[in-house]
Amino acid sequence: MNNLETLAIELKTDINKLTLTQASELSALKTVYLGKKGRITDLMKAMGSLAPEDRPAYGKQVNELRDLAETLFQEAEKKVEEAQIQKALISSLDLSLPGSSQGYGSLHPLYQVREETLHFFRGLGFELAEGPEVETDWYNFEALNIPAHHPSRDMQDTFYIDTNVVLRTQTSGVQIHTLEERKPPLRIIAPGHVYRSDSDASHSPMFQQVEGLVVDQNISFADLKGTLYLWVQYMFGKKAKIRFRPSYFPFTEPSAEMDVSCTICNGKGCRACKNSGWIEILGCGSVHPRVFQAVNIDPEVYTGFAFGFGLDRVTMLLNSIPDISLLTRNEIPFLKQF
Ligand code: DAH
Repeated sequence: MNNLETLAIELKTDINKLTLTQASELSALKTVYLGKKGRITDLMKAMGSLAPEDRPAYGKQVNELRDLAETLFQEAEKKVEEAQIQKALISSLDLSLPGSSQGYGSLHPLYQVREETLHFFRGLGFELAEGPEVETDWYNFEALNIPAHHPSRDMQDTFYIDTNVVLRTQTSGVQIHTLEERKPPLRIIAPGHVYRSDSDASHSPMFQQVEGLVVDQNISFADLKGTLYLWVQYMFGKKAKIRFRPSYFPFTEPSAEMDVSCTICNGKGCRACKNSGWIEILGCGSVHPRVFQAVNIDPEVYTGFAFGFGLDRVTMLLNSIPDISLLTRNEIPFLKQF
């Protein structure tokens, strides 16, 4: 019995000595123990020379030893196999091959112009405001003094969800949400998506607007002009000029449209500005007293100004982008330019 125990220890030591990287080394050792003339096989053969009463106990011990040997060799074989796979992997790795590069992404041009605009207005103390894209008639029209017969309510322009609910056609409704919730003085800037049933090279059924609103005592049209002039200089450069043309919006009085000197010809006249030297970029005005009345603010105490522009349009002007749909098509060659 002592011999069997010694053999088990020897077996373990022999296997541990192997580097376990070469299959031939291992199989040679396996032959030494388990081969036809192997040491364990010999022990089994020796059973015949024992007294019959000793055989069962001896046989049991030898079988256990053989099972142990088989398990140990199986484990070792697995390790050798793994080592060989590892070796093959390393030798097939060519570090001199060029890598596959990932390339850098960049911010979408619309997002860049949006961020620059928000950054500018935050600097003037404006706060970010938001409103829902699905609006009731009240916020999109009624409270903004847009009467039922006004053309912007026309089925052709507005996406109606039902008679009283629309996809907002303008961010101006954020003025109402804000004035219902907060008391003046306030300065807000509200970017967001708007929807209109309209589509060509310069119109898209979904686009983005930025709305501005300032309400306080003694706010005048001059404050509006000064604020917008600073924004234009910030976005279009120091040489940019502005001009105001009288216009009509139901929610401002007086109302105006603001033009910027053409960014392509610097005002000399070219195809982009239809030889006028000017490009229209936003609508604005002094807040109409009826808007204040709709939200229970006394127009005798407070005045304000508001403006709204299309973010897509400004982005197109700043980057000479000819077609508005390029901004939503997600084409990599286009986006890579920014
Ligand atoms: N909401 C107008 C539009 O979609 C733009 C606008 C004009 C906004 C005048 C204003 C404003 O706040 O005062 O065309």
